[in-house]
Amino acid sequence: MGEINFFPDDLETKDLKIILRLDLNVPIKDKVITDDTRLTLCLPFINRLIEKKAKIIIISHLGRPKGVNIPELSLTPIYKYLKDILKTNVYFFRGAFDNETNEKFSYLKGGEVILIENIRFFKEETEDDQSFSKKLGSLGDIYINDAFSCSHRKQASVHNITKFVKKSYAGPLLKKEITAINLVIKNKKKPVTCIIGGSKISTKINVILSLIKKINNLIIVGAMANNFLVYKNFNVGKSLIEENTKKIIKDIYKKAELSNCEILIPEDCIVGIDFDGSGRNKNINEILDNEIILDIGSNTIKSIQKKINESNTVLWNGPAGYFENENFSRGTLSIAENISKNTIERSLISVLGGGDTIAAVNKSNNKLSFSHLSTAGGAFLEYLEGKDLPGISVLK
Ligand code: 3PG
Repeated sequence: MGEINFFPDDLETKDLKIILRLDLNVPIKDKVITDDTRLTLCLPFINRLIEKKAKIIIISHLGRPKGVNIPELSLTPIYKYLKDILKTNVYFFRGAFDNETNEKFSYLKGGEVILIENIRFFKEETEDDQSFSKKLGSLGDIYINDAFSCSHRKQASVHNITKFVKKSYAGPLLKKEITAINLVIKNKKKPVTCIIGGSKISTKINVILSLIKKINNLIIVGAMANNFLVYKNFNVGKSLIEENTKKIIKDIYKKAELSNCEILIPEDCIVGIDFDGSGRNKNINEILDNEIILDIGSNTIKSIQKKINESNTVLWNGPAGYFENENFSRGTLSIAENISKNTIERSLISVLGGGDTIAAVNKSNNKLSFSHLSTAGGAFLEYLEGKDLPGISVLK
């Protein structure tokens, strides 16, 4: 497989129609963007293309609407954000795609931007549908994928679209991400600790199974850990769990034993009776039927800190609790602050990934430092696993 085609900055783009796939999947609550990190990271390249007088057609998704137009998942707040911040005309396209859409965009002048409404409102997007990809491809002359965080998805605007444009490139953000992660993979020093949080074990299972062979410690936090607690026969009350995970977890423990990888799960946690309230620290054998685990507890925080202090490389994806409520953000923030301290004081190699992880880290009152902060969650993990990501393969 050849080299990735990176976008050449000296390419003449005046009046060239560029389809730019970005990841503008930012957290939004009540129509307000609550963390704009992903957006701010995209801005320098958009501005560069505006300066170069390209006609910019931005495609992004928000959430997982499964082919349905869900108003809460509209890109309207992002459109308003871009309209305010970009010093050019920004338009919003909410229509359907047909063979004439291209002509509908003929009003776009060099240096102007069209943002397309959430592309996942079309079921053909997630199906990587050929004819839909063709319609998308017909909107521009060239295609740039600057969304590393979506590149593990075999979806129309990431994958099949590349068949229907003259040329496809990887954008500068994608380049920065893979360069940084490649560097970490190459230079990583043992002991290596991987912290995995978030909720869905089934979406991360292959990554976990494959990482176990390459790491020394696996720390499971967040709602994902609840499944491990259930596996160990603890009552988790009304906590979020995923069905049918027993076999998966059994496999994880078996593989870990074979690979000499130590698995650490919470020994205590903060429980509450709803997501908006406050919580109490409890040992994991004390959880009542009406309680929900919403963060890791103080002893677990200490055990994780000890592991981080003893590690030379730490990879982290997924928060430790429901950090959106500050009563349950201590676990996540303490992990972030401890990793940062070790990175600064003794050059720990640290890579963090994922939209939620970034949003959580941004809640810290301290200025934190990491070797690399990736905007990607799933893509970051799959890339670490050594997989050829579909959205990157097509750029080679
Ligand atoms: C992410 O948040 O990791 C990216 O936006 C990809 O989202 P997805 O997991 O819904 O494909």
